[in-house]
Amino acid sequence: MNDYSYDDYKAIVEEHIMDFMPEIDHKSITLYEAMKYSLMAGGKRVRPVLLLAACDFCGGKIEEALPYACAIEYIHTYSLIHDDLPCMDDDELRRGIPTTHKVYGEAMATLAGDGLQSAAFEIMHSDMLYYLDDPDAMKHRICAAYEISKGSGCRGMVSGQVADIEAENQVCSSEMLDYIHLTKTSALIIAAVRAGAQLAGADKDMLKDLTTYAENLGLAFQVRDDILDIIGNEEELGKKTGMDETHGKATFPSVHGLEESKIRLEELTQNALNAISKYYDNAEVFADLANKMAVRGN
Ligand code: IPE
Ligand code: IPE
Ligand code: MG
Ligand code: MG
Ligand code: MG
Repeated sequence: MNDYSYDDYKAIVEEHIMDFMPEIDHKSITLYEAMKYSLMAGGKRVRPVLLLAACDFCGGKIEEALPYACAIEYIHTYSLIHDDLPCMDDDELRRGIPTTHKVYGEAMATLAGDGLQSAAFEIMHSDMLYYLDDPDAMKHRICAAYEISKGSGCRGMVSGQVADIEAENQVCSSEMLDYIHLTKTSALIIAAVRAGAQLAGADKDMLKDLTTYAENLGLAFQVRDDILDIIGNEEELGKKTGMDETHGKATFPSVHGLEESKIRLEELTQNALNAISKYYDNAEVFADLANKMAVRGN
């Protein structure tokens, strides 16, 4: 395993994120520009970092995981563009700059999201084409792509977004809130970690521990996101605060209160750390990431 930190993996993602953009005909240049605008706005790159780190941790080659890491960031970026649309969370600021629909209009933003999503699947499948004659390598790639499809789709992130919208201005049970957080946020984080591990051909035990880590990290990540919507600094956060209350969103603080949310965030972070504690020094990047995400300001 490389002795890479979060920042090292992130730098690799930043360097290569645009390498995987499909060649788009000049006649559809607006599509290309809107996709690039959203991808290059920055962001923490948590999901691709996790994918690369998991692959590395399980003994795989990070350069071979790069297409899948970028694919998951394309999917995440599409989800943010759609999440910000007026018909969803109606947000005007994202990653410190105007949201995609504010710059390109709603139709183009919707299509840029669609383009990013299909590009993600094109990236993964075009990588697989190189391995048609290598059954083991092919198996690992199919398993990784499956994790990403499952986590991002109708049993993962998309379902979570549906539940999130339907829970607006409703009384939300603790159980329903857990379902929303698990699907809209944890599912893609679990997919990132599992896809990276699958690419390296990780064994069942390791996959299980990493899944527990990612599930708890994902839940903690959304609780922190909900807390930041109340106590965050708009400039540092890069998005408008107070929007959850404006839209009557079901969030951890709205269901359980702010103090309880802080306690839950600590518990979930500890659960994530416990899941990988037996790997000692080797899992340092995962422990570091969980600790950082619990206190992040953006
Ligand atoms: C925001 O994700 C949406 C949530 C799931 C909370 P991030 O906080 O990872 O956003 P970026 O990619 O860093 O902008
Ligand atoms: C979004 O959750 C989760 C996604 C799947 C995009 P939020 O709606 O809370 O994310 P932000 O606060 O807009 O980034
Ligand atoms: Mg939302
Ligand atoms: Mg939102
Ligand atoms: Mg939020």
